[in-house]
Amino acid sequence: MNKFILLLSLVTLSCVLAIPQLPTDQQYYMKGSFNIPYFNIVEPIELIYDSVNNRQYISYYNGMDITINFYNQDNTYNVGPVKYDMVCTTTPGNGSLVNVLPTEPSSWVYNGTSTVNGVSVYGYSQKVTEYGRTGFYNFFVDENGVPVQFYMDGVDYVFGSHPDVYVLNFDVYSTDISSYESLFTVPTICNDAQEAPAQENEFSGIFSIADNLKTKEEKASKLFNEYKAEYNKEYSSQDEHDERFINFKSARKTIAVHNAKKSSYKLGMNHYADLSNKEFNTLIKPKVARPLVNGAEYIHDDESTTAIPSTVDWRIQGCVTPVKDQGVCGSCWTFGSTGSLEGTNCVTNGELVSLSEQQLVDCAILTGSQGCGGGFASSAFEYIMQAPNGIATEDSYPYLMQNGLCQDRNNTPSGVTITGYVNVTSGSEAALVNAIATAGPVAIAIDASVDDFRYYISGVYNNPACQNGLDDLDHEVLAIGYGTYQGQDYFLVKNSWSTNWGQNGYVFMARNDNNLCGVATSPNYPIPTKN
Ligand SMILES: *[C@@H]1O[C@H](CO)[C@@H](O)[C@H](O)[C@H]1NC(C)=O
Ligand SMILES: *[C@@H]1O[C@H](CO)[C@@H](O)[C@H](O)[C@H]1NC(C)=O
Ligand SMILES: *[C@@H]1O[C@H](CO)[C@@H](O)[C@H](O)[C@H]1NC(C)=O
Repeated sequence: MNKFILLLSLVTLSCVLAIPQLPTDQQYYMKGSFNIPYFNIVEPIELIYDSVNNRQYISYYNGMDITINFYNQDNTYNVGPVKYDMVCTTTPGNGSLVNVLPTEPSSWVYNGTSTVNGVSVYGYSQKVTEYGRTGFYNFFVDENGVPVQFYMDGVDYVFGSHPDVYVLNFDVYSTDISSYESLFTVPTICNDAQEAPAQENEFSGIFSIADNLKTKEEKASKLFNEYKAEYNKEYSSQDEHDERFINFKSARKTIAVHNAKKSSYKLGMNHYADLSNKEFNTLIKPKVARPLVNGAEYIHDDESTTAIPSTVDWRIQGCVTPVKDQGVCGSCWTFGSTGSLEGTNCVTNGELVSLSEQQLVDCAILTGSQGCGGGFASSAFEYIMQAPNGIATEDSYPYLMQNGLCQDRNNTPSGVTITGYVNVTSGSEAALVNAIATAGPVAIAIDASVDDFRYYISGVYNNPACQNGLDDLDHEVLAIGYGTYQGQDYFLVKNSWSTNWGQNGYVFMARNDNNLCGVATSPNYPIPTKN
């Protein structure tokens, strides 16, 4: 009997010992791909992590975008596409290396075996729940502890965006980086490199998710306690307290974002910081007429909208393409623009053609946008007006989630051309309704910075913390309709965060609620050429 128990525990013990640990290598080479299955994105990546010498090599799309950080020499080289050419820039200074291995192995829980990419693997997991939405993060290693895959299904804290499925595959992994030393050779194109500001690397902090979140929330909570004490705040209920805490966090963000920008004035905390925007506007700010944005074009702006339908949803006419996914790239403005042109072209010419966001990412730099670094629908339309063949189809110029060389001189098959575009009267929700009803889907810019927007699932989004000033707008989306739901007026809005987000990729944004989130602050739509 005793012998049997002993045997059993030995067996158990040897099983436990056989479970490989998560890697904690200080030097490694990896080659693989970053994948967004939803939008068929496979981004090849090659990376050397060398924390012993404080330097790093990262290449996306097999050399289309290379970053070499010599933090040991206080210098970084970046070789990447700008308009029609590859360009090298340098950035002096030190920074943080990007580690694509779990940085806090102890926060990952062993979660059994399975098969990934044809390999028998051991899985480690993290589960994070925020705003009632749970995200799963899995890291898989083979029997020798060699990384095979990182799989994320949930809210994308990593890139500060939206719920989605992201997969990082490790195809080659080696802790002996000496055979890859040549990758650290500075490319000759960098001999006359210009200095440029530092860029955020898309993989920075990929695995410290849970720790970050916890410490972030704990820190905010501590500061809120100090704030309440300083301004003698007392709240009547837990609900009110929670509401005020959200306002407080939003105020902190507004202040920090503003103060980080170059400006003639600075912002700071005060006794208004726990009020919502709406409370503040009705209680405190005097009412002033909103001036028109320079260059805005007037279209019917009468409040009586009797001639147009009370509900519009352009999906019913078949004038909206399936929801797309911008992934890890600040290219929302291209999706809003293509969406509006896909729609207005369908309304005008009776044909729904999916159009290329990548062409706008790569080429609208010519008219003032910055690819994955951000841009404007107006700049996209100005670019399409001047492009040799207008804008290409999605299929002929597919999405890369990354700045690429502008291909518009390479006989890209033309998708759609335009003759101009319209800026809808800024601040007028009635004008926006008119534009949607008469022209088709309209590109709009909104304030998507309030934390809970990224966890939106259903209902009419009307968080009063949302701002509507031109400077508050940080996300371009597509208004494809409007209507009223359970007594609340809404704009029906298509986002570019996959169907994993929102209501199958859509959100109902409050309408006739003082231009909440800036829905009507900067709308515009293109005028397609009539076939
Ligand atoms: C700067 O470099 C030093 C030494 O190489 C390193 O220890 C430190 O963490 C670096 N700072 C940042 C911000 O990465
Ligand atoms: C681990 O956990 C995830 C949820 O995070 C689950 O989907 C998966 O099947 C589990 N098992 C393995 C072996 O990874
Ligand atoms: C539309 O608005 C933008 C931003 O204010 C401006 O640059 C552009 O010239 C305007 N275009 C038209 C056609 O009014």
